[in-house]
Amino acid sequence: MDAIVELSGITKRFPGVLANDRISLAVAPGEIHALVGENGAGKSTLMKILYGLYQPDDGTVAVRGERVVLDSPRRAIALGIGMVHQHFMLVPRFSVAENVILGAEPARGGRLLAGEARARIAALADQYGLAVDPAAPVDGLSVGEQQRVEILKVLYRGAEVLILDEPTAVLTPQEVDDLFANLRRLRAEGKTVVFISHILEEVLAIADRITVLRGGRVVGTLVAREATKAQIAEMMVGRPVLMDLAIPPARPGEVALEVAGAVVAGRRGRPAVRGVSFTVRGGEIYGIAGVEGNGQSELVEALVGLRPLAAGRLAIRGRDVTRAGVRAIRLLGVAHIPEDRHRRGLVLPMDVWENLILGHHGRKEFGRGPVLDRVAVWRYAADRVQRFDVRTPSLATPVLALSGGNQQKVVVARELGFAPTVLIAAQPTRGLDIGATEFVWTQLAEARAAGLAVVLVSAMLDEVLTLADRVGVIHAGRIVAEFPRGGASPREIGLAMTGARLGERSA
Ligand SMILES: Nc1ncnc2c1ncn2[C@@H]1O[C@H](COP(=O)(O)OP(=O)(O)OP(=O)(O)O)[C@@H](O)[C@H]1O
Ligand SMILES: [Mg+2]
Repeated sequence: MDAIVELSGITKRFPGVLANDRISLAVAPGEIHALVGENGAGKSTLMKILYGLYQPDDGTVAVRGERVVLDSPRRAIALGIGMVHQHFMLVPRFSVAENVILGAEPARGGRLLAGEARARIAALADQYGLAVDPAAPVDGLSVGEQQRVEILKVLYRGAEVLILDEPTAVLTPQEVDDLFANLRRLRAEGKTVVFISHILEEVLAIADRITVLRGGRVVGTLVAREATKAQIAEMMVGRPVLMDLAIPPARPGEVALEVAGAVVAGRRGRPAVRGVSFTVRGGEIYGIAGVEGNGQSELVEALVGLRPLAAGRLAIRGRDVTRAGVRAIRLLGVAHIPEDRHRRGLVLPMDVWENLILGHHGRKEFGRGPVLDRVAVWRYAADRVQRFDVRTPSLATPVLALSGGNQQKVVVARELGFAPTVLIAAQPTRGLDIGATEFVWTQLAEARAAGLAVVLVSAMLDEVLTLADRVGVIHAGRIVAEFPRGGASPREIGLAMTGARLGERSA
């Protein structure tokens, strides 16, 4: 095998962290190569080096057998290496074609060349089966379509090697299938893909080979068709991972949260939630399953006071909070793990310790009056970091320097940290490795045993089925079915998620 890209002895240090420790990785032309490993293992860092965003402290890169210096993304692109960003960088007001061309405009001539560019985009979209309309404005596109535009953008610049860092984290199961079909098509056309994911089933389904990193080093490379989930998990974590949490029967207490006839407006003012009612008692986990975009996000925001109810009622522990707003709801003991940690969950430039007490500075255990008791805060933060295994060089490290999964751990550690009575958790384990996912599941189960009422919204059906005492299936803004634990098979729930009614189920 002659590698198309070969990284040799790559070492990258950040203050207090050895992110990549003499990593060698050879990627074969035309393969889909998955990169897996625990949160903080060094996956994103290695790919940013390959894309010219970071410079290694040591080691070399060769592209098609020739040693190169990747001192900028521009250089990487010129060598045929492209990266699809997880946080899309598209201009909403522009069309697909304008976004694809942006930054790589035809040099001269305006109109005519722009016409040629559009034709080229259409040809590319066709060649790789990337169904998007070049003339469509980007702000009307689904997340999956936006991702296709990002892929087109990279192909338009002549990429032979495509790097995708956790591309499936934002996609619905159907969109994941579409993406995988696109990746297989790219492979068939001779492109090379490097792909990062924490979902091992996905990795096994799509990859030709899998490289496992741990603590900044390569543990090994496997041929996907000979590998198993358990084997990869053990290589990643260094011990067997079970993932079969035994949840004792629920012992429901008082009603903690009551939602009655909730109607909530969505982005364009149209109702996204159309009359949702349920109650959750202390010691109970109410799961909401559904294909993303069916009103879950708006419902969650309404439950924590971030979005007003257009109609209906919301009560916490018997208190009407329909119009109470975010602060009053939090003071009643409602915690919130938001789906978008960058926008809502964290203040990225602030240090780890500060993010761990965000919104709770005023608690009496942290000081008298306006003065923070540094020692008390520090002790508290150190305990959270240790318990949740947040991999950070120190408590005084800005959260933006943590890996994606470790940022998520900070949010979960904070929200479970102040003995909440109600927890509204949206995608609580998104971006977490399987060890960390197992840990968060255990934490949620323990908090439930201690009397916490939980609303769990998750795109991962196995997460809902493992944790929830009751599952409400949401479709087009309504709870279309409700099942007790064990009361429906994944298939039945999956069908309800598509909006199929009872009578259609057996079909
Ligand atoms: N810009 C940065 N400044 C300081 N430290 C960084 C920076 N980027 C990454 N690190 C550190 O390097 C290590 C590896 O991080 P990286 O983002 O590569 O992990 P990852 O394998 O992608 O993890 P995840 O699965 O959580 O995304 C981590 O300890 C992280 O804190
Ligand atoms: Mg990462």
